[in-house]
Amino acid sequence: MNNQQIPLPLPLAAGPIGVFDSGYGGLTILSKIREALPQYDYIYIGDNARAPYGTRSFEIVYEFTREAVIKLFEMGCHLVILACNTASAKALRSIQMNDLPGLDPQRRVLGVIRPTVECIGSLTHSRHIGVLATSGTILSESYPMEVRKLFPDIEVSGQACPLWVPLVENNEAASEGADYFVKKYIDELLAKDHLIDTVILGCTHYPLLLPKIRQYMPQDITIMSQGELVAQSLKDYLRRHPEMEKRCTRGATCQYCTTEAEDKFSASAATFLNELVSVRHIDFM
Ligand code: DGL
Repeated sequence: MNNQQIPLPLPLAAGPIGVFDSGYGGLTILSKIREALPQYDYIYIGDNARAPYGTRSFEIVYEFTREAVIKLFEMGCHLVILACNTASAKALRSIQMNDLPGLDPQRRVLGVIRPTVECIGSLTHSRHIGVLATSGTILSESYPMEVRKLFPDIEVSGQACPLWVPLVENNEAASEGADYFVKKYIDELLAKDHLIDTVILGCTHYPLLLPKIRQYMPQDITIMSQGELVAQSLKDYLRRHPEMEKRCTRGATCQYCTTEAEDKFSASAATFLNELVSVRHIDFM
C-alpha cells in the first residue's frame, strides 16, 4: 500500500495487542510479553517473505512497517509493538508523526529502543557500552541518540552484524558455521573500545544466537537482551494508560501470521517458541 491509498474503516471494538517484526526475531519479544501479561490477546505478524529488513533503505523499511501497522489496525489492534529494532529505528517516528493522526489518533505504536535504553544507566559501571545490531539500526544512530538524551555521560560504540539475521532466519543459529561470524562481530565491537562493560543485543533476532554470543563474549561483560525489558515497559505503559488498557481484549489467545508460507513459519517458530503454533498466511495488499 502506498501513502495515497486509504485504509479500510478501522474496527472500533477492543482488540488484541499487535506485535510486528520482519521475521522470527519478534517472537523473542512476544514470548516475554506473554509471560508478563498472559491475560491479553495478541496477533503476531512476521513479514518473513521480505526479511531481512536490516540492509534495506529508510524508505522501504518505513513503507513495509507502515503496511504491517495498518494491517494490524484493520485486524482490530489499537496498540501495536514494533518488536523490531530496525523498524523502530527507521519507521516508528514517521508512523507516529505522519500516519497515526490520519489513521486514528487514539491508536498507538510503540518501539523497542527507548525501553532498552532506559535500563542501561543502572547496568554500566564503566559508562562505555556496545550495541550489536543490523546495519540499518547502526547507521540510523538511534541508539547513540537515545542514550545521549537520557545518559549523556555514556559512550556508545556500535557494530553492524549483517549476517546474524540470515543465520537465524535460515535456522542456522546453532550450526558450526555460525561461530565464525558470531566471534567476528563481537571482536570487531570490542576492538573499538576496550572499556565496554555492557553490550545491548539491539536486534530481536539475536537472543536466538545467545549460546554462541555468550561463548565468544568475555565473561565480565553484561549482555542485555530486550524481551524482558520491553515486556516490563509494556506492563508499565498499560498501567499508566487505562484508556488503552480497556481497548485490549483479555482472552489469553495468540494468533500467528506470516507473509511467507505457513508450514515454513510454523516449523521455524516451533524451534524458537518450543511449541507448535498454528499460523495463517496474510498479504498486506
Ligand atoms: N529483528 C529485527 C531487528 O530487531 C530485524 C532484523 C532484520 O530483518 O534485518 O532489527
